[in-house]
Amino acid sequence: MSHATPWGGRFSQEPAEALLRFTESTGQDAALFVDDVRGSIAHARMLAARGLISEDDARAIVQGLEGILADWQAGRIQLDPRLEDVHMNVERLLEQRIGEPARRLHTARSRNDQVALDLRLFLRRRTADVRRALARLAVVLCDLAEQHAETVMPGYTHLQRAQAVTLGHHLLAYVEMLARDDQRFADAARRMGQSPLGAGALAGTSLPIDREQTAAELGFEGVAANSLDAVADRDFAVEFLAAAAILMMHLSRLGEELVLWSTQEFGFMTFSDAYATGSSMMPQKKNPDIAELVRGRAGRVYGDLVALLVVLKGLPLSYNRDLQEDKPPVIDAADTCEACLSILADALSQAQFHADRMAAAAADPALGATDLAEYLVERGVPFREAHHVVGRLVAETDGLKRVDAAALARAHQAFGPDALERLDPRRAVQARSLPGGPAPERVRRRAAQLRELFRAAGG
Ligand code: ARG
Repeated sequence: MSHATPWGGRFSQEPAEALLRFTESTGQDAALFVDDVRGSIAHARMLAARGLISEDDARAIVQGLEGILADWQAGRIQLDPRLEDVHMNVERLLEQRIGEPARRLHTARSRNDQVALDLRLFLRRRTADVRRALARLAVVLCDLAEQHAETVMPGYTHLQRAQAVTLGHHLLAYVEMLARDDQRFADAARRMGQSPLGAGALAGTSLPIDREQTAAELGFEGVAANSLDAVADRDFAVEFLAAAAILMMHLSRLGEELVLWSTQEFGFMTFSDAYATGSSMMPQKKNPDIAELVRGRAGRVYGDLVALLVVLKGLPLSYNRDLQEDKPPVIDAADTCEACLSILADALSQAQFHADRMAAAAADPALGATDLAEYLVERGVPFREAHHVVGRLVAETDGLKRVDAAALARAHQAFGPDALERLDPRRAVQARSLPGGPAPERVRRRAAQLRELFRAAGG
């Protein structure tokens, strides 16, 4: 008798509709379709190489699966929720296409090692996509940083003007964050590189399969060393989500700055009309919705990370159906990261930066207070004393707005009239030329280095 489910043999009743609806995962599994088919092709070839199925059957299976993949990519296949998951759907499609040989494909395999495999293949692929999108944004930022290596702007602490920097230096700070994000994704991908296939349901198989062959064919570096761990481990997904959450934290901070900078109050930048939104009521409005949504979607990805951590917490070995809940968070995080990176790259490459507004804000002489104190230090004054002297001067001269040679001379005898030059933000930026500093030459060199790094990664 034929059952809708693959476990029909020991059951005397058809599964309840409510059970099928509650347990099926075809909606989320669609994201893994290509990975599932790839895994099955490798598995079938290995089974034939080990004499576990005939070469003819393997050929029929592989050809059938390739046809299914082509149909899927052409949009000709819809997953049937009554078949529970992608694995059973593919197996059924194959049986419809090639008949009997399809019934040998699942030899020495469980859906537990199969889904663990699919998720690794999926995440290796999606990690590469995210890293490509990340590299593209990084290169856009490097280009902007180079163009604006001399565009002076105020640097902030506590969101109060602090010292002059350049737009280039500020943007490159985000590229440094992206470079670390990229390393985290690369590191997570390394730990996705052990094939779980062959772990079976939990305890391997007595059939003489070749785990190394499928691992190598699927691009893995090796095979998972413990069958229980192989079907239960989702660390690599947590690591991916952690890297994604940190990336989104960075993009959210960038988003916040873009929101601020595009206000009338700051006026440091304008999004192009194609990358800004209007208001349904207020005709004059032009809003930075992209930046706001990027900022907001960080919350989603943090949720994805926490969701998976909580699913995994307290699960006994080995496979448990709870693990089916691993897919929505990783699918969502990958999609969200890729979309945010890509829209930011588009929007930033079209945005206008207003050097005049930044220069006007950076012309605030108070930004040179530290430079005045350092002038005194160069002349032997202890820094604490210099700090105090300049602090008093700030108070007396309306934040250095009314400072002149006479006021300087009154403040400390070590001040010469040339100290006034230290208040020029361009000079101040030039003078901070140590490694990590905002001097244009440094920024240009670092931008070129980072661009090289990301170009090599496909940016
Ligand atoms: N949909 C399942 C998952 O995502 C596939 C594995 C099902 N295994 C099982 N023994 N029911 O985890």
